[in-house]
Amino acid sequence: MTAVKLAIVGMGMIGKRHHQAMKTLMEAELIAIVDPAEQAKEIALNEGIRWFAKTEEMLAEVVPEGVIVSTPTEIHLAPTLSALEAGCHVLVEKPIAANLEEARQIQKISKQVDRNVMVGHHRRYYGLMEETRELVSSEKFGGLLAVHGQWTSRKADSYFIPQWRQQSSSGPVLINLIHEMDILRFICGEIESVTAQIQTGFRSHPKEETAAIILQFQSGVLGTFLLSDATPSPWNWEHATGENVNFPHTGQNSYYFMGSDACLEFPNLRIWNSVGKPDWNYQMTMEEKLVPLEDAYIAQCHHFCGVVRGWEKPRITAEDASKTLAVTLAVFDSAKQQQTIWL
Ligand SMILES: NC(=O)c1ccc[n+]([C@@H]2O[C@H](COP(=O)([O-])OP(=O)(O)OC[C@H]3O[C@@H](n4cnc5c(N)ncnc54)[C@H](O)[C@@H]3O)[C@@H](O)[C@H]2O)c1
Repeated sequence: MTAVKLAIVGMGMIGKRHHQAMKTLMEAELIAIVDPAEQAKEIALNEGIRWFAKTEEMLAEVVPEGVIVSTPTEIHLAPTLSALEAGCHVLVEKPIAANLEEARQIQKISKQVDRNVMVGHHRRYYGLMEETRELVSSEKFGGLLAVHGQWTSRKADSYFIPQWRQQSSSGPVLINLIHEMDILRFICGEIESVTAQIQTGFRSHPKEETAAIILQFQSGVLGTFLLSDATPSPWNWEHATGENVNFPHTGQNSYYFMGSDACLEFPNLRIWNSVGKPDWNYQMTMEEKLVPLEDAYIAQCHHFCGVVRGWEKPRITAEDASKTLAVTLAVFDSAKQQQTIWL
């Protein structure tokens, strides 16, 4: 069987990660790179892949079956629409777009041209997520009552050299928190309201740095989340899991799920139960589940090939990712309006 012909638009940090994943799969073939940057041209030259500075230039000469859009967030819309209109299926990085209007346009055009859009919330491909979802809804957990999550880390100064990363469309809310909101929706269900406070001023960037958030889920579960890209801390997904080899593995947690009969540390999957009745008079024991962390980008690329071939339906559709975007953007609205946002 011939490999699925793919292109990458935006060969930066995450574009390269997609490329790496693709190389491990016989079923995928990278036939074009679109990125005006010199380093992207060099990769294309070195690997014998066709290079284009613009998506339209590529589509005039080569039409891949699937296009991965990994440009800066505010440039997701144009290449996504061009690729869809040319008949390609699209895997667009998270957030699906910089705002809800653009996200709606992507949904609309995808339906009109009958091509699939899937969104790069890659963490959902980890077995760890399914396992956690099962654990918190299990009988021994009782009912889920509350959750606390945290993403705190100090990004390196060099990270902010590209100007776009200093803007709030690419601050920690839309770059990092969006993953957490997606995890929370996946594990705890839909979010009904968001109340948030935001702080800036540690660096002289227009974007936010720290946020404290209260969440209410449709199920009645309550949540809190603490976010900051200005503090060195081991309590964030990347350091906790060691998912990204560029960041040292701390083995710490970034979530605590609280049930009426037990509670759970995540991603370490340590379940705390009382011996006897589940009240504070009883000794607690801890049981640990070991779930290996697969390469989610390989799983995602494999799924994308299945979607392009028509064998699979997108696991994270444009509609689904737009809900994650809406909840995430509500953090800005709540902080600005100084009130709770109901979704
Ligand atoms: N899934 C994840 O965990 C994850 C991680 C990091 C970034 N992202 C997302 O990926 C996107 C890119 O982030 P990054 O960190 O890789 O950025 P980056 O700056 O490292 O790379 C962006 C690349 O896009 C290129 N580019 C800019 N305009 C272009 C255009 N019009 N056409 C083609 N190429 C263009 C740039 O030259 C650059 O090489 C963002 O939306 C971000 O939110 C997702």
